[in-house]
Amino acid sequence: MTRRPSVPPRRSALRVHDPTCEYLANPLGIETARPRLSWKLRSERREERQTAYEVQAASDRDALERGKSDLWKTGKVRSSQSVHVEYAGRALRSRQGCWWRVRVWDARGRASPYSPPAYFEMGLLRPSDWRARWITCPPITVPDVPEQPSPVLRKAFRLDRPPVSARAYVSGLGYFELYVNGRRIGDHVLDPAFTRYDRRALYVTHDVTGALAVGENVLGVMLGNGWYNCQTAEVWNFQQAPWRDRPKLLLQMHVTSDDGTETVVCSDGTWRASTGPVIFDALRNGETCDARQEKAGWDTAAYDDRGADWHDAQILPGPGGTMHAQQHTPIRVTGTVDPVALREVRPGVFVCDMGRTFSGWARVGVSGPAGTQVTLRYAEKLLEDGDIDQSNIAGGLKSGDCQTDRYTLKGKGLETWEPRFTYHGFRYIQVTGWPGKPAAGDVRSRVVHTDFERRGEFACSNELLNRIHVCVLGSTLSNYHGLPTDCPHREKNGWTGDAHLSAEQVLYNFNAESAYTKWIDDFADVQRPSGQLPGIVPTGGWGYNWGSGPAWDSAYLLIPWYLYRYRGDARLLERHYEGMRRYVDFLGTIADGHIVRFGLGDWCPPTGGADSHVCPAELTSTAYYCSDARIVSQAAALAGKAADARKYSRLAEAIRQAFLRRYYDPASGQLTGRCQTSLATALYHDLLPTAERPKVLRALLEEIDRRDGHIDCGILGTKYVMHCLTDAGRADVAYRIATQEDFPSWGHWIRQGATTLWERWDGEASRCHHMFSDIGAWFYKALGGIVPETPGFRRVTIRPNVVGDLEWVRADHKSPFGTIRSHWRREGNRLVMEVAVPPNSDATVYVPAAEDSAVSEGGRPVRRAPGVALLRTEPGRAVFNVCSGTYVFASELPG
Ligand code: BGC
Repeated sequence: MTRRPSVPPRRSALRVHDPTCEYLANPLGIETARPRLSWKLRSERREERQTAYEVQAASDRDALERGKSDLWKTGKVRSSQSVHVEYAGRALRSRQGCWWRVRVWDARGRASPYSPPAYFEMGLLRPSDWRARWITCPPITVPDVPEQPSPVLRKAFRLDRPPVSARAYVSGLGYFELYVNGRRIGDHVLDPAFTRYDRRALYVTHDVTGALAVGENVLGVMLGNGWYNCQTAEVWNFQQAPWRDRPKLLLQMHVTSDDGTETVVCSDGTWRASTGPVIFDALRNGETCDARQEKAGWDTAAYDDRGADWHDAQILPGPGGTMHAQQHTPIRVTGTVDPVALREVRPGVFVCDMGRTFSGWARVGVSGPAGTQVTLRYAEKLLEDGDIDQSNIAGGLKSGDCQTDRYTLKGKGLETWEPRFTYHGFRYIQVTGWPGKPAAGDVRSRVVHTDFERRGEFACSNELLNRIHVCVLGSTLSNYHGLPTDCPHREKNGWTGDAHLSAEQVLYNFNAESAYTKWIDDFADVQRPSGQLPGIVPTGGWGYNWGSGPAWDSAYLLIPWYLYRYRGDARLLERHYEGMRRYVDFLGTIADGHIVRFGLGDWCPPTGGADSHVCPAELTSTAYYCSDARIVSQAAALAGKAADARKYSRLAEAIRQAFLRRYYDPASGQLTGRCQTSLATALYHDLLPTAERPKVLRALLEEIDRRDGHIDCGILGTKYVMHCLTDAGRADVAYRIATQEDFPSWGHWIRQGATTLWERWDGEASRCHHMFSDIGAWFYKALGGIVPETPGFRRVTIRPNVVGDLEWVRADHKSPFGTIRSHWRREGNRLVMEVAVPPNSDATVYVPAAEDSAVSEGGRPVRRAPGVALLRTEPGRAVFNVCSGTYVFASELPG
C-alpha cells in the first residue's frame, strides 16, 4: 500500500524584520552582559500574532545559516515576546561577535522563515582588556599661537598578512577624529559623548578592516577640547570642572590577519605627537583653524615624523572614570543647507540667511592669499540694519567670542573647511575677512545633531499646527548632541526639566531610547550620596542648590518611566531603582509635612521674568514629589519589591493629602495661586478625589476663558493644561489654545517667523529651546489619539478627537511592534478613520459615532468585520477591540 504524502504545513504569513540588539542595528561595542534582542513582524493579514519564537546565535555567520548555533539556541519558546528578549546563551567574552536569527510561529502554529542574520559584537568588557595607555602631545608653544593648539598623534606599524578583521576602540577626550592611512574613519562627529569623565568615559568602536593594508600603515588621531577641557569662563563653571585636563587619547586596535594571527596596536609612548591646524576650540566660543599649520600627509605612511615639531607622545593619567562602550546613536552631519539669501550689509560684512534655525556649523569653499583670515559669526537674529544680533545668546559667556569660527588660508587654490570640535545654534552667519566677495555656494551649512531616526509622522488640515510640529522637530534635533540640551548656543547644557517635559514628544517622534539610556546613566554619575541631583546633567559640580528641585530632577524618574510606557523597557527602572528611591528619600529629608519648598517652579510664564510665575513653586515641587513616590512604588512592584511598593505608595498618598490640605479649597474648587498652572497641576498629577475633579476643571476652563482661550503658564503648566483638558474630554479647548496666533501662543512665534520653538512666550532670550515642545506629544495623543495602553504599545489606545475646524489628521507612530496608524477625515457629517495596528499587538479603538450601528468597516457593518469586536458604546463614540491589521472605519458623527 502506498502512503499518501502528508500535506506540508503552510508557511506562516508572518515575516520577521528589523532585528535589533539594544535598540541598534548590527551594533559593534556592546557591553550589556545580557543584551536584549527585538524584532518586528510584518503581515498582510489581520489578527496576526506570535505564539512562539526560536532564536539561534553563533559566532560564525555561515555556521548559523547551516543551523549550527554554538552560542545560543532557544528551541521553540512558547511566548509572544518579540521585544527585549534577553540573550541567555553562552557568556559573551570581550570582542565576541554574535550572529543571530529568529523565526516565529503564528496563532495557527505555522512557522515563519528565519530572519536574515543580524549581528552584534561585544566591546572591551573588563578593565584588564585595556593594554593601551592614555597619551597626549607634550606642551608645545607654537609661534604666534596664543593657546595650546589641538594635538595630533600618529603611529606607524606594519602588517605582514592581509587583515580580515580589525576593530579600533578609541576614546579621545574631549573629542577625536580617527584617520587610517589618510582616510577619515566613520561618519560620527563630536565623539565621544559628554559624560562625567572622572566617573565614566566612553570609547567608540570602529570597524577599520577596509582601511588597512599589507605593509606600512598609519593611525592618526586629532583631538579637541569639547567638555573635557572647557577653556573659557562661562555660565556654569565648566572651566573649573574637576576632570578638566589637556585632551588625551586612549586607543587599542585589534587586527586579525588571514592566517589567524592577531596584531594589537595600542596608544603608548611610541606614538609620535605634534600639533595640528586647530589652534583654538571651545564649545561655546567656536574654533580657529590656521591651515598654514597643517602637516600635509601626517596620517599617511609616506610622512616623516622625525622633524623637530614631532615628539614622543606623553603618557599621562586617564580621566579617572571607568571606560564604557558608547552604545547609543551617534552625532552626525545630517544635511547640508544652502543660504536662501546672502547680503553685504556693510562693505566687507556679509550675512548669510540659512532660512531656518538649526545646530551645526558652516562649510566654506574659499581661495585667497595665504594668511587671509575669514571669520564666521553665528546668530539667530538680525539687527535692523541686517547685521547679526547675538545679544540673546551671548549672555552667559564670560570670556571670549560667542559662536565664532576663524579660518586662516594656506593660500593654495580652493580650500574647503569646516570646524570639527565645536557646534553652534544659528540661522544667520556673518562672514568677514573674505578675500573678495563670497558667492552663493561658498558658504554652506552643515546640520549636526544626534542622528535619530524618525518614529512618528504627523500632519493635519491646520497649517499652523503643521508648522508648530516642524518647529518641535527642529528644536528637538538642534538640542540633542549626545545629551538633551536646553539650547544649542548659550549653554548647551543637559537641563533636566527641559528634557523630561519634552521626552514624550521625543519618543513619539524619534528613536531616542539608546540616547536616553546613556543620559540616565549620567544621572547616577552626578547623584550625591544623599540622593540629591543637580539641575544640569552632567555637571562639573554646579547646580545642586539652585536650578534644580523636583520639577527638574524628576527627569531621573520620568524618563525611565516613559521608556517603560512607550518602549516597554523596564531595565532603566530596574537599574536605577536605588538611585530613584534615594532621590525620593532625599526629598523626604527636605520636605516639611510632605511639602517640598525647594526648587524651580513654572519657568518662563508669559508675563514677568523667567521665574515670575504666580503658581507657587512649592505647589509644583510637591506635586512632583508625589508623582516620584508613585513611580518608585510602581518600579518596586515591577521588581518584586512588595514592601517598597507599599511604602512608597503610602508615601505618595500622604503627600497627596498634604497637597490637598495646603493648596486646595473644596468650597471654590480653587488652588493656591488661582491660576491655570495650579489648577492643572492638581488635575494632571492626579491629586484630586474623583468627585472634586469636575469642579477644578470648571475653574480651569474659567481661567482659560478669562485669557480668551490662551495659555497663561510657563513650561510646566503648559504641558499639564493641554493634557488634562484632553483627558477630561475638552480637547476642543486645548485645540483653541493650540491654534491661537497672538501672544502668548506657539502661533505668535510662528507669525514672527519662528522655525524652531523659543525660550519665552515674549520672544526674549533663546530662539531654539524645546521646553515648550510637549504640544508635539499632544498632536499624537489628542488629535491622532495614539496612546500606549499597556507598556510599549503592546496594547494601543486609538482615540482621536475630532475638534474645531479640523478636517483631517494623519498620525503614524512606529512602536516597538511596528507602525500604528490613526488617520481620519471628515466627509460632511461622516467620519472616515483609517487605523493600522501592527502584528503582535492589539488596540482599543474609539470611533466617534452617533451610535455603534452607524459604524462600518471596509464598507460592511462593523459587526461582520474580521478582527473587530464591539467592547461598549459611550456617549458620542463606539469602542472596539481591534486586532492587528489595517482597517477603514466609517461612521456618522454625533449631531
Ligand atoms: C535654561 C533653561 C533651564 C533654566 C532653569 C536656563 O538658563 O536655558 O532651559 O531649564 O535655565 O534654570
